[in-house]
Amino acid sequence: MKLTLIAGARPNFIKIAPVINAINHAKSGGHKIQYRLVHTGQHYDSTMSETFFKELNIPEPDINLGCGSGTQAEQTAAIMIAFEKELIANPTDLVVVVGDVTSTMACSIVAKKLNTKVAHIEAGIRSYDLTMPEEINRMVTDCLADYFFTTTKWAGKNLKAMGVNDNRIFFVGNVMIDTLLSNQNRFKKPALWEEFNLKEKSYLLMTLHRPANVDAGNKLKSYINEILTNVHGLPVIFPIHPRTAKIFSELGISEPNLKITSPLSYLEFNYLVERAKAVVTDSGGITEETTVMGVPCFTLRDNTERPETIEIGTNELIGTNPSAIKPALEKLFAGQWKRGNIPELWDGKSADRIVGQLIEIFN
Ligand code: UD1
Repeated sequence: MKLTLIAGARPNFIKIAPVINAINHAKSGGHKIQYRLVHTGQHYDSTMSETFFKELNIPEPDINLGCGSGTQAEQTAAIMIAFEKELIANPTDLVVVVGDVTSTMACSIVAKKLNTKVAHIEAGIRSYDLTMPEEINRMVTDCLADYFFTTTKWAGKNLKAMGVNDNRIFFVGNVMIDTLLSNQNRFKKPALWEEFNLKEKSYLLMTLHRPANVDAGNKLKSYINEILTNVHGLPVIFPIHPRTAKIFSELGISEPNLKITSPLSYLEFNYLVERAKAVVTDSGGITEETTVMGVPCFTLRDNTERPETIEIGTNELIGTNPSAIKPALEKLFAGQWKRGNIPELWDGKSADRIVGQLIEIFN
């Protein structure tokens, strides 16, 4: 079996790492599997890419397509042009895409147009919000893919509702949680822990990067004001995504409690998540990680493609009106945040299930 694995942006690296480990494990058990790792170059800063490869022991990509910044269309087009050349030069049995970033969609289109089968890991989740580029990426990818690996039964239902046959849907759990569980004992205290004199459960951790939240600077400013006003003087750690950094620098915000830092590595970031009093975010993946670590999380979005983090986990969708922040923090400080449980099959073995299934299909 010959596979081409696609990874382009930060969350992809976290999801592809356990798949590579599972392939290597199957190979050492005598299965004949070859793979080629393609980095599209969507994320290119070393703090957004290289650090993740190093920490998670992901092998050097066989090729980096070097498709960095640009508008949605520019990025999609650049990845498609470069990946078409790559796939013609290196044909494969199956292209494996993960998640919902632009690289996921662009490579799926190219593969199908070259009559190559596609497997989508984290298939079937939906926010039903077409203003998010990720939702379009998910929908297009799931229209084209041949095999669907899902994190929840709900995702499988969504796929069935769009006509996907049951025998192509495999409920395997969550590869992002494979990475979390296998690295939890390696989490690394970042230098800022001492620098900011942090104490367990006595700080908030915040990440914001969605265009709807950060591209209009006033919105970002209101969020920050509301949080700082209602956080009882605790420090708020804000590792800042390159998209947000550009806008933030123009806002001229300087508050002693707001601790800005560049994007942290995987092991350092999750060290902070595990010990935070709460996490404020607009990321989807982080709501899964806080759920598994039992950390209160509030999401500054009006919808989520990961409802299990709310129904089962520790996440609450508080919306995008900054006035929702005060009551959420009051609830947190009153000790009334829900405890949450861990969704089914988020057990660290999802990538083994995926590779096992692929072996059954292709051998
Ligand atoms: C992308 C994904 C999003 C994911 C996020 C995690 C899409 C549509 N979105 O969003 O789902 O949650 O990654 O980080 O694929 N930039 C840099 N350096 C980098 C990467 C990006 O400066 O290493 C800049 C880009 O030039 C661009 C901005 O950051 O101006 C946004 O990058 P882009 O890859 O378009 O999307 P993200 O917001 O990172």
